[in-house]
Amino acid sequence: MATSARHDLIVVGAGPGGYVAALRAAQLGLNVACVDESPALGGTCLRIGCIPSKALLESSERFWEAKEKFAGHGIQCAGLTLDLPAMLRRKEQIVSTLTRGVEALFKKNKVTRYLGHGQLQGPGSLKVEGPETSISLKAKYILLATGSEPASLPGIAPDGERIGTSTEALSYAEVPRHLVVIGAGYIGLELGSVWRRLGARVTVLEYLDRVLPGLDAELAADARKLLEKQGLEFRLGCKVTAARQQNGQCIVEAQGQEPLLCDRVLVAVGRVPHTRRLGLETVGIALDKKGRIPVDQHFATGAEGVCAIGDVIAGPMLAHKAEDEGMACVEHLVTGRSHVNYDAIAAVVYTQPELAAVGKTEDQLKEAGVAYRKGIFPFRGNGRARTLGQVDGWIKLLADAKTDRLLGAHILGPHAGDLINEAATAIAFGASSEDLARTCHVHPTLGEALREAALGVADRAIHI
Ligand code: NAI
Repeated sequence: MATSARHDLIVVGAGPGGYVAALRAAQLGLNVACVDESPALGGTCLRIGCIPSKALLESSERFWEAKEKFAGHGIQCAGLTLDLPAMLRRKEQIVSTLTRGVEALFKKNKVTRYLGHGQLQGPGSLKVEGPETSISLKAKYILLATGSEPASLPGIAPDGERIGTSTEALSYAEVPRHLVVIGAGYIGLELGSVWRRLGARVTVLEYLDRVLPGLDAELAADARKLLEKQGLEFRLGCKVTAARQQNGQCIVEAQGQEPLLCDRVLVAVGRVPHTRRLGLETVGIALDKKGRIPVDQHFATGAEGVCAIGDVIAGPMLAHKAEDEGMACVEHLVTGRSHVNYDAIAAVVYTQPELAAVGKTEDQLKEAGVAYRKGIFPFRGNGRARTLGQVDGWIKLLADAKTDRLLGAHILGPHAGDLINEAATAIAFGASSEDLARTCHVHPTLGEALREAALGVADRAIHI
């Protein structure tokens, strides 16, 4: 095997940010290589994040519905049982289909793939060390897209067995009797929901006095109440200080509380940029206080030819944000144009019901002194939600008080994660609430609820 090679662009990391950037750069005519230390392409998102968690959320929801909801539809399913190994196999199959799909896209677009750990060795130079590879690569551009890894807590050492992160919680071989989740963020609520639906007692310990910090406070509070109805237990204002294994059990300690006994602990207290052994010092890149790589608006690091995108730079740690940054970064390198509209990047929590948001929250608008109007609509007024049997939740739209321009959309309700794309498009196009309100929406659909919320901005919602 060759010991050196040259490319126009080397992308380090094959997650949604990196692999999409590699494909877009290849479309634009660059000779592209992508380096990743995992044999399966797709990064955290495809292998141990978004995709496997959504597969389990879907399966566990079916199980829960069969148990709790089917009778209401006139469907009796006596003798219902859980085949957890089959559920986990289904998840693995979905992951492997998608990761192989990325491999096929690389072949189709002639992206050269290197399996191994990439480390910068001065400007334009990257060394790749892998199980069967040791190669020095040269390129005009190097794009760092190495993602993030679970944050740890002092006093808690994940043992990869009973005390672990989302990676382990995606593959428990049996349903825990009692799962303690540390952190009521995206991961804690999604994976807590999965194991609750499959029969575990789930206790969520959260440091703050609310769940899902960063999302709309009212909707997050309602989401918590709905999750409590599903049996999740919450302890808010609870600072976890230690967790350890003892005699096959786990003990979780929190300030001012009785220790909790459980058989599994999921630590979900955020993620941190993954920058270890990247050789950043060889090109003069210094991390910011949060361990992120500083970049300008075109993702340039200041080091010659080196760019960075996704979870290793500032901003929300979301796959679609990384994808957009990857595309914008390479388009700018090749064409000198392209940008990302950060006001139109939505976020979704895949609980039941889902919670989704795009644009500004009320808190942010108040802090910035922006006068706004609010349109609200509950899903119980929507015919399609009734037929689905999913009437919990509501929508909040925020529009500029003077110009009526849409500033934010916040949805707690059925398929919120799909509905939010319409609001994101509206925001991206600079639409007003009236634009949305005057757009005819198909009946009966959940989208009508969004339109009603838009009508609500001018106090003219119909079904409220
Ligand atoms: P997160 O930042 O969403 O939530 C972590 C929670 O842990 C916070 O509520 C925080 O207050 C709490 N916490 C911190 N220290 C604590 C302590 N000592 N005791 C108790 N609570 C404590 O982080 P999470 O859920 O780990 O997710 C990581 C990242 O992954 C997020 O940035 C998210 O954007 C991304 N993600 C996105 C998903 C999606 O788009 N659906 C799904 C899963 C993850």
